[in-house]
Amino acid sequence: PLYTDLPENGLIVLIGASGAGKSTLAGTWHASQVLSLDGLRGAVSDDPGWQDATADAADVLKLILERRMARKLNTVIDATNVEQSVRVELVMAAKRHGMPTVAVIVATSLPVCLERQGPRPDTRRVPQDIVRAQHQAMTHSHQRLAAEGFNTVVFADTLYRLEPLLKRLSE
Ligand code: CTP
Ligand code: MG
Repeated sequence: PLYTDLPENGLIVLIGASGAGKSTLAGTWHASQVLSLDGLRGAVSDDPGWQDATADAADVLKLILERRMARKLNTVIDATNVEQSVRVELVMAAKRHGMPTVAVIVATSLPVCLERQGPRPDTRRVPQDIVRAQHQAMTHSHQRLAAEGFNTVVFADTLYRLEPLLKRLSE
């Protein structure tokens, strides 16, 4: 089928380079369901772009995820999630609580991801070589996701929820 249905309550892990459109897609869920690593960096450091705050923000993310999973609530992880170790930890948390897991690959092309860095303010702009590495890691992750334990692996552009969003963006 062209369009993919998602479980009503599960763990949804967005995977993609900076600029791929993860946060835009995440915005189609209720805000309380979205755990944004950028947002939590801001919460712990007053600066969403401060990379030194990543470990603290990731700690907070894992704690909130744990508490939400204990309540069987749907949760969307808005971060690049291109590292296998990061994904495996998220999947393990969901499995502990018997929650279904979905990997959503946001496979926007590298030139577009790079181009989208341009208009960003300095603190939100990710250096080219990092975006390139993230994009490569996203590409390589695809074949591993099922073995990592994801119940469903989908590409973002097959999600029905993107349709009204893309329409709005093009208006
Ligand atoms: N965008 C777009 N069309 C889409 C998705 C996104 O034009 N289908 C635009 C957004 O409006 C935004 C930019 O692309 O200006 C980057 O999208 P964003 O969701 O912020 O990308 P992220 O993947 O969240 O990037 P980061 O990892 O840096 O947070
Ligand atoms: Mg984002």
